[in-house]
Amino acid sequence: MLKQIETEVITVEADAPDVAIVRRAAELMRRGEVVVFPTETVYGLGADALQPAALEKIFVAKGRPLSDPLIVHIAEYSTVEELTTAIPEEARQLARVFWPGPLTLLLPRGPRVPRMVTAGMETVAIRMPSHPVARALIRELGSPIAAPSANRFMHVSPTRAEHALADLRGRVPLILDGGPCQVGVESTILDLSAEEPVILRPGGVSLEQLRTVLPTVQLPRGRETPAEDQAQRAPGQLPTHYAPTIPLLLFDGSEEAMRAAMLAELQRRRQCGERAGVLVADADLAAFQESEALVFALGDAAQPAQVAASLFAGLRALEEANVQVILCRNFAEHGLGLAVRDRLKRAAGGKVIQV
Ligand code: TXA
Ligand code: MG
Repeated sequence: MLKQIETEVITVEADAPDVAIVRRAAELMRRGEVVVFPTETVYGLGADALQPAALEKIFVAKGRPLSDPLIVHIAEYSTVEELTTAIPEEARQLARVFWPGPLTLLLPRGPRVPRMVTAGMETVAIRMPSHPVARALIRELGSPIAAPSANRFMHVSPTRAEHALADLRGRVPLILDGGPCQVGVESTILDLSAEEPVILRPGGVSLEQLRTVLPTVQLPRGRETPAEDQAQRAPGQLPTHYAPTIPLLLFDGSEEAMRAAMLAELQRRRQCGERAGVLVADADLAAFQESEALVFALGDAAQPAQVAASLFAGLRALEEANVQVILCRNFAEHGLGLAVRDRLKRAAGGKVIQV
């Protein structure tokens, strides 16, 4: 049994974090504690990346297996050199354009990186977040911060401090509340160790953006999104990794076909006495007005960045509303749409209903 501890939540201004608050969080981390902090993608559960005993607390708090490696967050480009043995020219080019920001690069692991960070792998995942609170915390600590998303293992990533609190209350001493995360999906993970750069997890930097710098960037083996067969490269990338606690049915097709199929499914569910939740775009709202379902709109379907920013909050809202099933429409794959589709497919256990 894990000993319950008191979890303190402190509000911090996202754009201009209070120095005293940042110092307090850094002091906790220096003493080997874990702290939840905001990044531009999702909230992270951070510990000093160079203290193995502190790293262990991340895995305990999340209930995460030690075989799942962690991303190391840095504030200064020069730190990359301390964490790797070699920096390919492609990595330098990408870092110049996308750092600080939601891009994680897999680079050869340097000897200073504890095994617990990389789960024994020869690569280390590094990212420079752009969120001012994250950057201030790394600088104040004076050490890189290893951090997974601040959710319980297998649950949806937190994009608000309340989400992290719901999952980790009693398991972490401090949560810094910097408000909602702007990107809303996790960072893009790019593997540069293969012959051609491969996206292991689509995320906050889109495929199109990456290709403006490196035109050869690939999705793994012609797949729309990384899936089961990537499990060995990115052990955390199981098909159900981002699962909500309630079954989710994902519909894909034209807007009219998705609406019609979802309305028909709602009717069937209602006849069985089931309460359903629906995740749609703003333009779908009118079609679901008459239904008794709990409806959550994710924004303008033509603007995937909007949908990405509200996706995890939508999943959690329906989960908390105690519905028995969630019906969700799919979104186009341009821009952040690729990441949205990936997370929805995982939430649906890998299954997509074509209509
Ligand atoms: O946006 C993000 O990336 C957030 C924020 C907090 O920075 N972090 C995040 O961490 O999403 P996490 O641990 O929830 O997801 C990181 C993924 C895991 O699936 C892990 O398996 C993979 O990155 N990963 C980490 N190191 C790796 C490595 N050396 N090789 C392959 N995959 C790796
Ligand atoms: Mg995660």
